[in-house]
Amino acid sequence: MNSPASARILVVDDEPDLRTLCELTLLRAGYRVETAGDLAQARSLLARQRFDVMITDMRLPDGLGMQLLHELREQQRGERCIVMTAYGSAENAVEALRAGAFDYLTKPVDLKQFRSVVASAVQGAAAPLPIAARKRQDMQDAPTETAALAQIIGASDAMRRLKTDIVKVARSMAPVLVRGESGTGKELVARALHASSQRSSGPFVAVNCGAIPEALLESEFFGARKGSYTGATQDREGFFQAARSGTLFLDEIGELPLSMQPRLLRAIQERTVRPLGSTQEEAVDVRIVSATHRDLAADVQQGSFRQDLYYRLNVIELAIAPLRERREDLPALCAALLTRIAAESGMPAPALDEAALQRIAQYPLPGNVRELENLLHRAMALSDAGALQIPPFGGPPRAGAPAPATAPQHAVPQEQPATPPRPHTLQAWLDAREREILLRTLGEADDDLATAAAHLGLSARQLRHRLERLKLARTEPDASTT
Ligand SMILES: Nc1ncnc2c1ncn2[C@@H]1O[C@H](COP(=O)(O)OP(=O)(O)OP(=O)(O)O)[C@@H](O)[C@H]1O
Ligand SMILES: [Mg+2]
Repeated sequence: MNSPASARILVVDDEPDLRTLCELTLLRAGYRVETAGDLAQARSLLARQRFDVMITDMRLPDGLGMQLLHELREQQRGERCIVMTAYGSAENAVEALRAGAFDYLTKPVDLKQFRSVVASAVQGAAAPLPIAARKRQDMQDAPTETAALAQIIGASDAMRRLKTDIVKVARSMAPVLVRGESGTGKELVARALHASSQRSSGPFVAVNCGAIPEALLESEFFGARKGSYTGATQDREGFFQAARSGTLFLDEIGELPLSMQPRLLRAIQERTVRPLGSTQEEAVDVRIVSATHRDLAADVQQGSFRQDLYYRLNVIELAIAPLRERREDLPALCAALLTRIAAESGMPAPALDEAALQRIAQYPLPGNVRELENLLHRAMALSDAGALQIPPFGGPPRAGAPAPATAPQHAVPQEQPATPPRPHTLQAWLDAREREILLRTLGEADDDLATAAAHLGLSARQLRHRLERLKLARTEPDASTT
């Protein structure tokens, strides 16, 4: 394999000035360059020789640059493609990336960015990736599922499409924004993207952008030199350095303070970072995947999120449908989650019959898969051995209806009431069941916390915690009766 510096590059653009500028820039960087002004010229060059990288304009006199991309793919050639598009035509770029382009550049071309994008394409093309390359060829248009993809349960149309998109998009370097309500599996998708990419042997670094104090953001992201701030007793790597050759997952990107946004944009665009206290820029080869449950476009409108960063992060968007729009995934999800919970908690996996499943399907699950997982976990712990008990759904709470009255203590009957009220949320029902069990056990233990806890297989501290959460903690006698 040629060394990166002697890589062959094909530039296809119909504007002579831009073509020459690209050519000169690349020659100066030591590459071997050929140029073409239209599709026909490009095809004849491609027929005669192999290149490491092809850079093509989108709009050409005799067709679209996309056509070259498709042709290269059909012929299973290894050229990495970089697409240049006019500013503002983001859909084209997305289309190109979905068709397997390595990255895209917007015009007017920023030369610094141009050089760094080409450098990473050349590096990627030169990297020894026989296995990944083979996988890519085997895959063609019928992707086989990788282990990480298989962890994403769901065969609904929406989930199938999502998985196909993950495989397609994993190949490119372009930033991906994963959108979905809370608990829909955004992190799972980000991990699957990494695992399906050619960077899967590199690190996956996940960062919660909302959890870092603003004053520390810069050093956390870009690293810091020894002595750059009080307490910096040695050089420290930032997230970007830690994610080198891998994927940097920016979770809750909508929470990133405005002050940090331009700096992040710059790092992504130029693929370099400057650690705090350093005068040197460091190149970082990192694939960016971000995630949010927010409507970032609306945040842009309101001025709380920068538009340029939004466009840069959102080159490819993967949207995960909320659970209520893919109820058909519930049976498979419940089965997989119960097996997982059983394995993790050491409890036996309970049987899940059709009736229980149908009942689960009636409840709203605004917290999506995460909520389902929590509910199943609790239901397992509270169900009598064998089968998972799920009560019939009580229907949507009526507007203006009084809040369900809590039964006065003295009226609690020893036996089950004939028709227990139907809950509107599984959470409420589980709370009621847990309350009942805790109170009964405490009663049987003559209100002795330690004995009751031992009986329940909990520590006294855990029991106290639960009592507090269910508002059953004993406070002063007076306070509890008001
Ligand atoms: N399709 C799925 N198949 C299997 N497990 C899933 C699926 N979607 C989500 N989960 C599980 O649900 C839980 C929540 O997923 P994850 O953390 O990826 O969600 P999220 O979208 O990042 O949520 P949040 O916004 O709350 O951070 C995890 O335990 C994950 O494994
Ligand atoms: Mg998350």
